[in-house]
Amino acid sequence: MNGLMSAIFTQMDDLRQARVSEGKDVITLSIGSPDMPPAKHIMRALTEAVNDAERYGYTLSKGNADLLDVIASWYRHKFNVCLDARNEIHSLMGSQDGLAHLSLCLVNPGDVVLVPDPGYPIYTAGPLIAGAEIHYMPLRPGNHYLPDLGAISEDVLRRTKLMILNYPNNPLAAIAPKEFFTQVVDLAQRYSFVVCHDFAYSELVFDGYRPDSFLSVPGAKEIGIELHSLSKTYNMAGCRIGFAVGNARVIELLGRLKSNIDYGVFYPVQQAAIAALSGSQQCVKDLAAMYQRRRDVLVDGLERTGWNIPKPKASMFLWAPVPTRQTSLAFTVDLLQNTGIAVIPGIAFGACGEGFVRIALVQPEDRLAEGVNRVANWLEKL
Ligand SMILES: Cc1ncc(COP(=O)(O)O)c(C=O)c1O
Repeated sequence: MNGLMSAIFTQMDDLRQARVSEGKDVITLSIGSPDMPPAKHIMRALTEAVNDAERYGYTLSKGNADLLDVIASWYRHKFNVCLDARNEIHSLMGSQDGLAHLSLCLVNPGDVVLVPDPGYPIYTAGPLIAGAEIHYMPLRPGNHYLPDLGAISEDVLRRTKLMILNYPNNPLAAIAPKEFFTQVVDLAQRYSFVVCHDFAYSELVFDGYRPDSFLSVPGAKEIGIELHSLSKTYNMAGCRIGFAVGNARVIELLGRLKSNIDYGVFYPVQQAAIAALSGSQQCVKDLAAMYQRRRDVLVDGLERTGWNIPKPKASMFLWAPVPTRQTSLAFTVDLLQNTGIAVIPGIAFGACGEGFVRIALVQPEDRLAEGVNRVANWLEKL
């Protein structure tokens, strides 16, 4: 349990809460939780199903057949990847569910899991729960935030059972070219390990960029799965649903484990997901455009204060170099105390996150503009 403590997240949230209870105006850019509601047609599908008295029973762990079919056609349409709806798709109670349980299916104590650093915390917690040995793959700006596959030793590769990847990335907002996925498939085939690509931000993309599915690379389905979440794409974070797709054997193992832990996703939530995935995708386009505008307000505004932050092509985050000579934690605390802006220090995502902070684009443009003014006033005085 000690390994599962995220002391920095808790510390930062305590500091933020303390300021809020002092009556101070805090601009919260720390949590990656969407600030907008789902589209009306999604909420309507949920309410209609909730009002159906017949729909309160257990559901199939895998997901109802119509949901699985809708996921298969969403995948074909978005990524040109064909999936067998009965054997290559499994619904999840959010992608976190899949990330938490996958290692238990694939890893014996002592086996290696390759985990990105910095990375979303469950990438470490899931393997830890399974007793795995974690080997961190540093993601550095010099290598476009891609792991250096050549730097992983032969010994580690021979003991590896699972590699976790995530592009577009949280917290780095980095993207991966298809050639990188091809190299990963090659390596995974050579050393017989499974690859899990977390694709939670596939739709939050800017400036015309479209990411490739990991499964679109030849051979990927023989070694890999991809995880999706409706939390960010359709603003459904509390309405827990996501899905795993890809290698039939891995999907079967995940399903076998999950059927011993929980039952399926509540029927109305599945109906909401069907409405989201099969309905008009204009809400997704509008959402991505909104995050893009927020990105521009912050990046362009902060640039005028002398704080230069790269403009990401995707996700809902900025990965910002610390503009002072402080650690990421010290800077984050100072920023909160002097400007009332809450962000997350990069170190919270792993040792390689030092030197950066993660800024979540989860406030409207006027609040972000207000944040820029506060930063400008503060940095001027330093
Ligand atoms: C990269 C990444 N993967 C997975 C998740 C979990 O999402 P879900 O709500 O689908 O469990 C998040 C949530 O922030 C995330 O950022």
